[in-house]
Amino acid sequence: MIAAEKLSLTYEKDNTRVEALADITFNLRKGSSLSVIGPSGCGKSSLLFVIAGLIKPTAGKIAIDGRVPDRTNPDTALILQDYGLFPWKTVYENASLGLRVRGYNKRAQRDIVMPILEKLGLAEFARHFPTQLSGGQKQRVAIARSLALSPKLLLMDEPLSSLDALTRENLQKFILDIWFRHSLTLVLVTHNIEEAVFLGSHILVMSERPGRVIDIIENPLVGTPGFRQSSGYHQLCSRLRGLLGVVN
Ligand SMILES: Nc1ncnc2c1ncn2[C@@H]1O[C@H](COP(=O)(O)OP(=O)(O)OP(=O)(O)O)[C@@H](O)[C@H]1O
Ligand SMILES: [Mg+2]
Repeated sequence: MIAAEKLSLTYEKDNTRVEALADITFNLRKGSSLSVIGPSGCGKSSLLFVIAGLIKPTAGKIAIDGRVPDRTNPDTALILQDYGLFPWKTVYENASLGLRVRGYNKRAQRDIVMPILEKLGLAEFARHFPTQLSGGQKQRVAIARSLALSPKLLLMDEPLSSLDALTRENLQKFILDIWFRHSLTLVLVTHNIEEAVFLGSHILVMSERPGRVIDIIENPLVGTPGFRQSSGYHQLCSRLRGLLGVVN
């Protein structure tokens, strides 16, 4: 689904140059989930923007399903770090925004959005505004908006970083469930080691800026019952700590 070959990205503005990504190569199969982890400022969001077609790489090649990524591709959805909800729109209006932009009529919007809100436990909040919601609920609205468009590729930038540990673990389970049920391909940026291991069938470990690939680890046990309590999970977390240079 994603083929990235020797991707590099340098931001240039006026006389300043920031080398953000260097020589990133990886392939991701359809139906996989890729956790991208690395230190702050190493280029994780930049990589996600390149995959979404919002930024062109300075060098190298990237293809999504064989094509150059295009920001207007309806098969790709991107959820930003701050959820991107409009405060003056209700939960329902926020969730149906993408469909409205694409010209779906009111009836069609309703038929698609209401079951999704229902499934995400948000139906009773349909008329609420984002300020009336908790962080976890806001995150679910952002997810609902993306799912309404039935994407094949879902890109998430630190979706859970502002949440408390309990909400975070519940939403991690929830994301795993969505990934299985909708047979999505998922790319999730995080700087949380446990989250990367819990959610990624593959884990891309990045170096300090300019972000390079330190390792791509396969995680075949992802999603199996009791994974978070298993020794395989804890071993993988330790391995990541080692790769990222975290002192135990
Ligand atoms: N539009 C831009 N113009 C110039 N430099 C940028 C731009 N966007 C990001 N950068 C720089 O590129 C580098 C990588 O940024 P990026 O946002 O991709 O990092 P990140 O890994 O997502 O960081 P964090 O974990 O803090 O979110 C940083 O040094 C940043 O300052
Ligand atoms: Mg970022």
